[in-house]
Amino acid sequence: MSIGPKTSYVVRGGQPLQGTVFVQGAKNAALKMIAASLLAEKGRTVLRNVPVIEDVRRAVELAQAVGAVVKFHEAERTLVVDASELTSSVLPAEIARKFRASVVFVPALLHRLGEATIEGIGGCNLGSRNLDFHYRGFARLGCTVDEGDTTIHIKADRIRGAHLYLDTPSHTGTENLIMAAALAPGTTVIDNTAMEPEVLDVIDFLAKMGAQISGGGTGFVTVEGVEELTAVEHTVMPDRIDAAVFAMAAAITGGELSLVGASLDHFGVVRWKLEQMGVEFSTHGAILQVRRERQLRPINLITSPFPGFATDLQSPIMALSSLADGTSYIRETIFDGRYMLAGELTKMGAKVEVAGNAALVHGPSVLKGTDVIAHDLRTGIALILAGLAAEGETVVSPGYLIDRGHASIAARLNTLGADISVEMVR
Ligand code: EPU
Repeated sequence: MSIGPKTSYVVRGGQPLQGTVFVQGAKNAALKMIAASLLAEKGRTVLRNVPVIEDVRRAVELAQAVGAVVKFHEAERTLVVDASELTSSVLPAEIARKFRASVVFVPALLHRLGEATIEGIGGCNLGSRNLDFHYRGFARLGCTVDEGDTTIHIKADRIRGAHLYLDTPSHTGTENLIMAAALAPGTTVIDNTAMEPEVLDVIDFLAKMGAQISGGGTGFVTVEGVEELTAVEHTVMPDRIDAAVFAMAAAITGGELSLVGASLDHFGVVRWKLEQMGVEFSTHGAILQVRRERQLRPINLITSPFPGFATDLQSPIMALSSLADGTSYIRETIFDGRYMLAGELTKMGAKVEVAGNAALVHGPSVLKGTDVIAHDLRTGIALILAGLAAEGETVVSPGYLIDRGHASIAARLNTLGADISVEMVR
């Protein structure tokens, strides 16, 4: 797997951000759509508004590894996939080990080649992140699942519709089981499905391809298996996490930004929590304006599935709350291991106490730039936000983890008045 040069982001803070920012396409929809496009035996799929990020490049590499012809026209943010000849059912370790979303390629391999092998499973460093809902679901659909120490082999011996359930409304689990059911003969019912906007966009994409799916957004999805899916064109929805990060960039610097491609409907509880902190939103036609003038207020929040507070924004809001006037209370309920930011923010002068799955952030702190570690994508972007508000220079490494999920982050922030450069690791 190529991870590019070892880089750091060097942030010189202090400027309130002003201007217009273009929200990227949604990572967590695009990755599943790339995999879903391999379900089409004929024709070419065209995906538009695909974010130019490292995780998309990994998904392209995986699609190519199994034989799809994929061209990512990065300047046009458009991906063209021709999956008419798949040649390998193996998702190779060097990519799959570091890219947990590799599992979303399994349904296409099962339907097209009758089997799938994942040589390793990885992803961001987020504590225990099992994939048992996926494998149990494949088994209930009639597949044989052999789990080895490092390799998982799945065979689609008698794949057919079944009644499935998810213990918790898993985002990728919902999408993956819908993809597996789309071409399975008979009816599949999935109880306790995720309602994230990206899940609905993936359902829209599959429906355009010819899948018969009902109940998206209700928590109970029914899929009637069809005989084939066709290649179509689709525009990926905007990335609500990228949008909210820019909203927080306006908030943490006391600036004002116009977001193109952001929808408050996709923010769920995030909107209300930011408003409680003193962030002001106003919608002007298709533009979402965000500004913060007053002293930030502290916040209480619990992460939960959509429309609850998104776990992917828990680190960014922890950085923001370090500037709030009082103590904020944050509880993480989706992923353990998502408080790695606390130690890094403390190095910058924040006062964060972690006890189990709760964190107390005592503000307001005066943040000071220093060398900090991006333990995963979301802590990385949170440290960039902290750096924007800090005195002096904040060096965030490794830059690669931020590039996994945010396109051209330094360039987009610099057009708004930030001072960020990309440097080789010092
Ligand atoms: N879980 C299981 N077994 C499973 C699946 C999930 O125990 O088979 C647990 C997880 O350990 C976690 C919870 O269920 O505690 C929820 O996990 P979920 O399956 O919903 O997460 P995911 O689908 O693997 C996606 C995003 C994440 C995002 C979460 C929650 C993609 C590729 N990833 O992960 O995005 O945090 O949903 O919204 O869609 C990110 O973008 O930085 C990121 C980590």
